[in-house]
Amino acid sequence: MTTMAASGASSLAGAGAKPGSTKKSPFGKAPDGEEVDLYTLTNKNGAEAAITTYGGSVVWLKVPDRDGKLGDVVLGFDSVDGYVSNTSYLGALIGRYGNRIGHAEFKLDGKTYTLAKNNGENTLHGGTKGFNKAVWTAKEIESKDGQALELSYLSKDGEEGFPGNLHVRVIYTLEDSNALKIEYFATTDKDTVVNLTNHSYFNLAGPGSGSGDILGHILMIEADKFTPVDSGLIPTGELRDVAGTPFDFRKPTPIGARIDSDDEQIKLGGGYDHNFVLRRKAGEAISLAARVVEPKTGRVMEVWTTQPGVQFYTGNFLDGSLHGKGGISYTKRSAFCLETQHFPDSPNKPKFPSTELKPGEHYHTTTIYKFSTEK
Ligand code: BGC
Repeated sequence: MTTMAASGASSLAGAGAKPGSTKKSPFGKAPDGEEVDLYTLTNKNGAEAAITTYGGSVVWLKVPDRDGKLGDVVLGFDSVDGYVSNTSYLGALIGRYGNRIGHAEFKLDGKTYTLAKNNGENTLHGGTKGFNKAVWTAKEIESKDGQALELSYLSKDGEEGFPGNLHVRVIYTLEDSNALKIEYFATTDKDTVVNLTNHSYFNLAGPGSGSGDILGHILMIEADKFTPVDSGLIPTGELRDVAGTPFDFRKPTPIGARIDSDDEQIKLGGGYDHNFVLRRKAGEAISLAARVVEPKTGRVMEVWTTQPGVQFYTGNFLDGSLHGKGGISYTKRSAFCLETQHFPDSPNKPKFPSTELKPGEHYHTTTIYKFSTEK
C-alpha cells in the first residue's frame, strides 16, 4: 500500500495516478496558442514525477519520507502560465548553454558569435528564449527500469545566436528504485557549443510543508575544487581548492553552516552560486556528485552524473515574490539546485573541458537523482 501525497501541492490534474503508469493531461497553452501537456509518471511504489512539455520542466516530484509518506520535493507551478512568466527556471531543461557565457559572446573556428545579454553583460541559460521556454515534443517510451518519457526539440541554426541546427532529445525515467534519471542527447550540422542541464529546485522536506529554508539540509559534494567567479558570476578560470573555505563539502555539512560567512566568494554569490569540479574516478562512467540528507523527514537525495561539474545554487535570488503550487510563496533559500553541467563560460576558457560539438559527434550525458531515506 502506498500513501498518496499529503504534501502542500496538488489539486493538480494527474495526481494520484495508478502505480506503474504514465498519464497525459492538458496543462494550458503556450503564449503562441500551442497546447501544452503534463505527463505524470508513476512508478511501482507510487512515487510520481510530473513533467510538462513546456520547457520540459519537472512540475512535481513526490518521493517517500522515512515513514513512507509521499511528499513533493521540488518547486513548481500549478499551470503553464507560471512557467511562461517565470524567470527563475523552475524545474526546466536548460540549453543551448546552461549557466553563463561571459560578455555574451564566444569564438568558434575563428568566428565570433554574439548572444543576448540577459544577465547583466552576460548570457544566462541559453539567452532570452532558452530551451526552458520551448514546447517540446513528447513520446512515452518503454523502459525496463520504470516509466519513461522522451522529449525532443529542434533548436534552429542561429537561434539565440548559436550556430547549427541542434537536434536535442531528453529522456526522463522515473525508475522503480525511486530515481529520476535524465539522459540528454544532441547532434548538430555545424560546429557549436552545448551544455544541457535541468534546473530543479529541491527542498527535501517538501516546499509546501512549512519547512522554510534549506539551511538545515546536510550536503556532501564530491569536489576538491571549485571555480571562483567575478562580480558577474563568470569563472575567473582558476580551479581553487575547497580546503579551508566554505566550499568544502567533502564531509557532510549543513548547507547553512557557512553561508553567511564573509568569504569573498560567498559574498559575490549572495550565498552559494558556484560550479564545483567533480572528483571523477578513473574509468567510471557515472559517478556520485553529491548527497543531501534532510534530517526531519529522513529523505536522502544522491546526484550521480557523467558531467565534470555541478552548479550548487542556494536560491539566493528567490525573494518571496514567486508564488508556486498551491499559492506557496518561494522565499530566499527555500530550495537549492544541483545543476550538473560543464563549467560556466567554457567556450571562453580553453583550459576548461570543452563544450564543442561537431557534426557527426553524439552529445550524450546522464544525470540521476536517487531518492532514499535514512533513520
Ligand atoms: C545560476 C544563478 C541563477 C539561477 C536562476 C543558476 O544556475 O547560477 O545565478 O540566478 O540559475 O536563474
